[in-house]
Amino acid sequence: MTALLELDKVDAYYGSAHILHGLELAVQPGEKVALIGRNGVGKTTVVNTVLGLASLRGGAIRIAGRALPRPRPYMAPHQGVVVVPQGRRIVANLSVEENLLLGAAVRRKGPWSLARVYQLFPILQERAHTPGTALSGGQQQMLAVGRALMANPALMLLDEPTEGLAPVIVDQLASVFNQVADEGTALLLIEQNMSLVLRVTQRYLAMAKGSVIARGRVEANSRDELHGHVMV
Ligand SMILES: Nc1ncnc2c1ncn2[C@@H]1O[C@H](COP(=O)(O)OP(=O)(O)OP(=O)(O)O)[C@@H](O)[C@H]1O
Ligand SMILES: [Mg+2]
Repeated sequence: MTALLELDKVDAYYGSAHILHGLELAVQPGEKVALIGRNGVGKTTVVNTVLGLASLRGGAIRIAGRALPRPRPYMAPHQGVVVVPQGRRIVANLSVEENLLLGAAVRRKGPWSLARVYQLFPILQERAHTPGTALSGGQQQMLAVGRALMANPALMLLDEPTEGLAPVIVDQLASVFNQVADEGTALLLIEQNMSLVLRVTQRYLAMAKGSVIARGRVEANSRDELHGHVMV
């Protein structure tokens, strides 16, 4: 099977700072994979390298088998790899609906539409014409997820989507992520919340100092093993 996304011995930098060291990662169609690790190990840099926001200076990134030698922010989304960024990045001055429509700019075909996103998150329809940044944190995260779905992704990269959110919202997002995956979108879930990892993903990759240092299956009894990789 051809991986939806593959990082093959990737070295990545911000300026002269060498952050990713020979990083190996692959996500197959339909998989739900967690990427875990302590603060500052380079999880967001994995996403940033795929988008060309950190510079790729060694190894290869492949999307559906095609190499991206010089990644730029629009390339991965056009090929079905869509990011829900850390911190949500809702566009100020645009309404909720306008933020959602931004996600559709790549014009990929698939099951997701404005109507389907509103079905998934009714609160977004109720607030469709308010500024996106006027929403609560949890609602902004729903908006960021909805915006990514509007691109009809084959793979969604979720960068700490539950950071700072109340448990009731985390529960709601967990069920949304499982529903989205059931409809065929693969997930790479970057998380520090191991209960979400346990509820959503099937296997994990653990990072330290810019490399993947451990990997394994996520099972009901994996909690201690997972916590071992994120304890400070
Ligand atoms: N724009 C940047 N320029 C230079 N260094 C950066 C930049 N962004 C991040 N770094 C550094 O790169 C390293 C990896 O950061 P990264 O944001 O990828 O970590 P992370 O695992 O996502 O952490 P967190 O869990 O806190 O989000 C850190 O040492 C960080 O200080
Ligand atoms: Mg991060």
